[in-house]
Amino acid sequence: MSLRTPLCDLLGIDYPIVQSGMGGVAGPELVAEVSKAGGLGIIAGLELPPDRVREAVRAVRRLTDRPFGVNLWLHSEMRPPIDMSSIPEARVRSVQNTLNGFRERLGLPATQARPSWRSASPCSPSRSAIRAPTWSAAATSATSRSSR
Ligand SMILES: Cc1cc2nc3c(=O)[nH]c(=O)nc-3n(C[C@H](O)[C@H](O)[C@H](O)COP(=O)(O)O)c2cc1C
Repeated sequence: MSLRTPLCDLLGIDYPIVQSGMGGVAGPELVAEVSKAGGLGIIAGLELPPDRVREAVRAVRRLTDRPFGVNLWLHSEMRPPIDMSSIPEARVRSVQNTLNGFRERLGLPATQARPSWRSASPCSPSRSAIRAPTWSAAATSATSRSSR
């Protein structure tokens, strides 16, 4: 029986196993071992300042050339809500262009739309739903439908 699924091709991994980004637990050694074993290791970026995240990324790269991820925690409890209209147009375009590469690989329509607000559930079911900015295709297609 093969464990290979489309996720493997998308992420460049051997097995559809994604290690959770666990704050205080998932450091470079664990991440590199998971990726070396054919899964996707994910660095926990929770509460790490940018320099520590950079160091962790470099440490994983020293240990393996396999794909890995970085888990960032950007929900509204960690960062004050922002006014979407204040995001410079060039930044919106740059982010959307990057995301369009992933959308293309996932068979989703490309967009240059600004992100919109919608409710998002945090990973812990015990916490109430939060509002978070979203750049997802679903939200942007809903936005473009409503603006027609
Ligand atoms: C010790 C520990 C630390 C965690 N830290 C994070 C974290 O930093 N970021 C995150 O998105 N989820 C974190 N989680 C949540 C996990 O990513 C995952 O959502 C949770 O373990 C449920 O996964 P499961 O449904 O596969 O059991 C953590 C979980 C554990 C057990």
